[in-house]
Amino acid sequence: ALQTGLEILQAAQAGKYGVGAFNTDNLETTLAIMEAAEETRSPILLAITAGALKYSSKRIVDIALAEARNATVPVAVHLDHGESFEICMWCIRNGFTSIMIDKSHEDEATNIRETRRVVDAASAVGVSVEAEIGRLVELGAEVIISEENATLTTAEEAERFMAAAGADTLAIAVGTAHGPNKGRGRPEINHKRIAEIAARVSQPLVMHGASSIPQDVVARVIDAGGVLKDAVGIHDDDITQAIASGMCKVNVGTDLRIASTAGVRELLRDKPEIIDLRKILEPARNEMRRVIINKMNLLQSSGKA
Ligand code: G3H
Ligand code: 13P
Ligand code: NA
Ligand code: ZN
Repeated sequence: ALQTGLEILQAAQAGKYGVGAFNTDNLETTLAIMEAAEETRSPILLAITAGALKYSSKRIVDIALAEARNATVPVAVHLDHGESFEICMWCIRNGFTSIMIDKSHEDEATNIRETRRVVDAASAVGVSVEAEIGRLVELGAEVIISEENATLTTAEEAERFMAAAGADTLAIAVGTAHGPNKGRGRPEINHKRIAEIAARVSQPLVMHGASSIPQDVVARVIDAGGVLKDAVGIHDDDITQAIASGMCKVNVGTDLRIASTAGVRELLRDKPEIIDLRKILEPARNEMRRVIINKMNLLQSSGKA
């Protein structure tokens, strides 16, 4: 059933497990997420970006809402990285039950002011709001410029921000990065910082850039002709430890992209006679479902719905 983000995340916080927010752009990805959620009995958030709205001519919203309403597990339909008050209001009007206002690249005063504006509107209609402070590590496959561009969230800043902005949940920067290149070797997650922030912020915490970039899947993509240079993700133990320290919402998009790419590349390589898009996308859906189930088990959301 359709629930608010906060309902789902408060339950996770109380039960000390994580909930996956999986990015979706299309029917096949949405079905893979829903199949995995039903199979493992996991609550989830369907995460939709501005890019997903554009790609799907906004039809992804209808698909996500229909799936959420038909689901036998709790599902929130969430705006991921909302960049303006206007897109947040559009999502509220169109049935989203959770929105993110991301002004993390602005100065603190602007972030507080813009988040507050969204919170005031959203709380009046019962939609939960995620805000973000700090900057994730920004990495390129060629140049690693992590230290200069990353600004880890501090506990003081988090406490001050939440008191002033009033968001329901808070995304923090603790060493992760978006995309397939999260560092060299094992990316360093600042667990001490997560614990410090959790001690001073009572709201559920959110980890962006949490894909694990499974190396067996990376190898299959490369083996089937793909290019994925220095693809490195977050170690499973770091996810487990982050959840134990108070992380509740765990965002995953890139793992689905890599898994679907492996499935499609292998299918086209092994069955060159196939011209039916349903058959081409079937392995994509199956591969995505498999990595999503693994993630739900890791987060321990399995069996919680
Ligand atoms: O941070 C979220 C996604 O990984 C980026 O996806 O291309 O839909 O903006 P997008
Ligand atoms: P990944 O790129 O690690 O999948 O992170 C997704 C994310 O944070 C979406 O908001
Ligand atoms: Na988000
Ligand atoms: Zn993100």
